[in-house]
Amino acid sequence: MADLQLAENRAPTVAQAGVWLACIECEETFAPFAEVIYRCGECGGLLEARYDHYPDFTEFSGRGVWRYAAALPFETGVSLPEGDTPLHEVPGLCAELDLPALRVKHEGMNPTGSFKDRGMTVGVEVAKAVGVSRLACASTGNTSAALAAYGARAGLETLVLLPTGKVAAGKLAQAALHGARVLEVEDNFDTCLDIVSDLADRDEAYLLNSLNPFRLEGQKTIGFEIVERFLDDYGTLPDRICLPVGNAGNTAALYKAFRELVESGAIEAKEMPKLTGIQTEGAAPLVEAIENGSEAITRWGSVETKATAIRIGNPVNAPKALPGIRETGGTAISVSDEAVTNAQRALAEEGIGVEPASAASLAGLRKLREQGIVSSDERVVCLTTGHLLKDPAAAASAGSDPEPVAGDTESVLEHLAE
Ligand code: F0G
Repeated sequence: MADLQLAENRAPTVAQAGVWLACIECEETFAPFAEVIYRCGECGGLLEARYDHYPDFTEFSGRGVWRYAAALPFETGVSLPEGDTPLHEVPGLCAELDLPALRVKHEGMNPTGSFKDRGMTVGVEVAKAVGVSRLACASTGNTSAALAAYGARAGLETLVLLPTGKVAAGKLAQAALHGARVLEVEDNFDTCLDIVSDLADRDEAYLLNSLNPFRLEGQKTIGFEIVERFLDDYGTLPDRICLPVGNAGNTAALYKAFRELVESGAIEAKEMPKLTGIQTEGAAPLVEAIENGSEAITRWGSVETKATAIRIGNPVNAPKALPGIRETGGTAISVSDEAVTNAQRALAEEGIGVEPASAASLAGLRKLREQGIVSSDERVVCLTTGHLLKDPAAAASAGSDPEPVAGDTESVLEHLAE
């Protein structure tokens, strides 16, 4: 090896007692921080973090992701800080969809503008705990922006592999300014992830894609926030959560949040919101698996969509996400790029600025309402995962054109009167 050095002086990271990793396929268990491990050493299955105690709401205090420290592997992490995102009321959309209890949780309000920050605050802390020096990810953009920022904050080297020409300008700019080494690969995201996984297996870098189970620990706090807010506002949980799906990490993370709340006795199993995954028609392998009733997804070799954040043909977290969708009684559907743009405009009319992938959640909900699958009395949360400014080109083309005018008041008045 190995550029992935174990630092001489490990950071004073305080791990919670009673946390370990378990394989979701064969239940083999592993110590979490003694070695770097991403998949089961026995069968290659995905790993998840397990705890000897699952807290209920009384054990949470403070704000943001680390409010939920009692359910996380550390007491605190590399924080910018993140979480505590708004749960918007959307009166116009409630009226349009005849869905009075629709809310939009805008994860674009995290420090680097996407939900990935929740995963990185935990994931980069784990990197410090295991003592690695170089962090890496493959990305459609947002993960790289978050990794670059959190890596910078932790003083660690960051390496990101991106598909050439398919990453929105805002995300590229973030990775560049926060000092990541950016490699553009003449292939799609899935190939980038294959390469980064190889690098990680060769101990060349610490992998911070959502294959890393600790990323999902941070992201599960979205579920905790939704539950706490809904209990405060409505005295009950939402019936359904609609979210865009790429690698299916977030779907897996939400399912884990609800399972843990059931485990702690904070909620009942039948209360778990129906997880509803939305993809675009050009990149819908998870939808295909749900429609076919398959246990596993079939990788799509070629994918295309304007929602570049979810331009993914091989959702690596599908073995965690498919059971989440099925066991909560949810579903998965695909929407056209045009429907995504229309939903992006509709959210903008409510004052909520999102990038295209985020708008897929609303586009999917609209379709499910049209099909009668979602009824008017359902309480629904649409998750909008990334900020409008992530993809300025998409926002500009979905919005109105600027009007050139001469630089004096009379010209402006004349122009306005036209
Ligand atoms: N929405 C946005 C804005 C995203 O950036 C992503 C994933 C998703 C939804 C899908 O989430 O992968 O957990 O199903 N973006 C990753 C990235 C792949 O590299 O930024 P998922």
